[in-house]
Amino acid sequence: MAETMKGLKRTHRCTEVSNQNIGETVTVMGWVAKQRNKGGIIFVDLRDRSGILQIIFEEDKCGAESFAKAEKMRSEFVIAVVGKVCKREGAVNENLATGDIEIVAEQVRILSESETPPFPVEENSKTKEEIRLKYRYLDLRRPDVQRNMILRSKICAEVRSFLTEEGFLEIETPILNKSTPEGARDYLVPSRVHPGSFYALPQSPQLFKQLLMCSGYDRYMQIAKCFRDEDLRADRQPEFTQIDMELSFVDEEDVMDVNERLIAHVCEKAIGLQVSLPLPRMTWQDAMDRFGSDKPDTRFGMELTDVSDVVAGCGFGVFTSALENGGSVRSINVKGQAAMPRKKIDALVDSAKGNGAKGLAYLSIQEDGSYKSSFAKFMTEEELKALVDAMGGEAGDLLLFAADRNKIVWNVLGALRLELGHSLGLIDEDKFNFLWITEFPLLEWSDEENRFMAMHHPFTMPMEEDWQYIDSDPARVRAKAYDIVLNGVELGGGSVRIHQNDIQEKMFEVLGFTKESAWERFGFLLNAFKYGVPPHAGLAYGLDRLVMLLVKADSIREVIAFPKVKDASCLLTDAPGTVDKEQLDELQIALNLIEKEDGAEESYEPV
Ligand code: AMO
Ligand code: AMP
Repeated sequence: MAETMKGLKRTHRCTEVSNQNIGETVTVMGWVAKQRNKGGIIFVDLRDRSGILQIIFEEDKCGAESFAKAEKMRSEFVIAVVGKVCKREGAVNENLATGDIEIVAEQVRILSESETPPFPVEENSKTKEEIRLKYRYLDLRRPDVQRNMILRSKICAEVRSFLTEEGFLEIETPILNKSTPEGARDYLVPSRVHPGSFYALPQSPQLFKQLLMCSGYDRYMQIAKCFRDEDLRADRQPEFTQIDMELSFVDEEDVMDVNERLIAHVCEKAIGLQVSLPLPRMTWQDAMDRFGSDKPDTRFGMELTDVSDVVAGCGFGVFTSALENGGSVRSINVKGQAAMPRKKIDALVDSAKGNGAKGLAYLSIQEDGSYKSSFAKFMTEEELKALVDAMGGEAGDLLLFAADRNKIVWNVLGALRLELGHSLGLIDEDKFNFLWITEFPLLEWSDEENRFMAMHHPFTMPMEEDWQYIDSDPARVRAKAYDIVLNGVELGGGSVRIHQNDIQEKMFEVLGFTKESAWERFGFLLNAFKYGVPPHAGLAYGLDRLVMLLVKADSIREVIAFPKVKDASCLLTDAPGTVDKEQLDELQIALNLIEKEDGAEESYEPV
């Protein structure tokens, strides 16, 4: 049977012991990372969340009983050791914080034994993610994962302390709600008391934080759990955490100002990074024109060029018909890649098609100045030269062209630029490029829904000078919305809110709500606006994304203690699961499952 701690009290965490303690007797507790038996002497690496400490067992110092215990210790046993801090006898280990000392054990207790773990609990594990997540409690013991979790905790603490200092109040908002539309599908929770009715888990605290402004709380913040039933990716989870805030009597400049200072504070405290302020800004239009993305990665160039004017009237039908249909022709110059093998170019074409392109035209400039191209035969020498000049093309360059509706062209070239930036090693991984994107369109046309949708959300204030076009040309109306982008990832977003019922009701109308349905869903907000509402604005960050980027992890799963995988399941607990018939009966819910097609087996995919 395992021993107890009775009579022992931990005096230090492993790396809290240092050469300052030489000669003292200490009591440490933790997990056996490694045990090496060298005959008369046994070395144990003891691990806790602070790091590793070397313990030495010699029979004449610790006695036969403790020595026997040390002999049977295996990895992941939990032990308590009382011993003397000594200068390390053997070679100093520069890699360890405690590398110049060791504990000479006098007494040891085995508090818990361990079976052989399914994978080694060590730094930089090569273990498959599927296994890591199934045994996440072991994975979370690994030092690199622990560093992420510790940094996450520190970031939260710094966010709270900075915002408290700035006059924000931390206020919790409900989890069981009516649906708040952020554009994703809701997670629903059936109500037992109201059979047939459902709560929606919050996609964000948006409406509640606006109500808090109506209630006069002036500056609100919350580290809030949000839930969105959407397709998962490396930077998306079904439940994730926002650093959420809302401010009264402010405009966008005030929100951006406090957030720049928040970012600078957190980066400095968390990873010692100096962020120089003010952060650069770019309008949405510029971001799309230059980078084909509203979250541009500005760590490298290869910007897009609009060559529509240059190719207007040329002989290449693909280009001219795109222009005739109201689209554009744009291009990127992949410097020095004229010799890219045909196979690789074909792969780029496929990837462009995967992003909605009908094709991808290319032109490479050979060392002798001649061109190799998929479309040169349709153009005159002069037309080609004008095109190459417009692209700043030089011998050795590869030019890639997309022709289509703007949205598709941006999407295709934006994605290709990123793909090439990564594969050609153009990205400086040491850079942290923060950027504000401003002046977003208020609305976005949805082909699927055949109507305008809010680009940010329906509560976003239009820019005054554009509101006049809301009926005649809704797509032209820009919003007082801003996103904060870091290294090509959307870190956060927010806006000035509508605080006038007439504008809010008009917005709902443009979005296709009838007056009745708008009041049915959002009546509580519209009502609140009748009783004195301050102008207000706010923003929310994805905390998981912020931590992911600051620790340079590839996925937000690396910075979430218990993440879910692509099909939104938890490999550790097997959630979601079926429930007893009695539970369903109580909720008056009958299942109506649609049979899966034969052979449609689900396979595990982490991202
Ligand atoms: P938005 O929908 O842009 O705005 O969300 C804000 C930030 O939350 C993060 N985020 C996610 N992180 C992980 N997994 C997800 N599935 C996920 N979805 C979003 C992103 C994003 O920038 N209420 C508004 C904010 C406001 O206007 O104040 C909102 O939720 O980093
Ligand atoms: P085609 O005449 O269809 O064989 O196309 C000639 C070249 O134009 C090929 O390299 C195609 O990949 C390319 N292409 C076709 N459609 C587009 C488009 N919408 N934008 C850019 N290139 C295209």
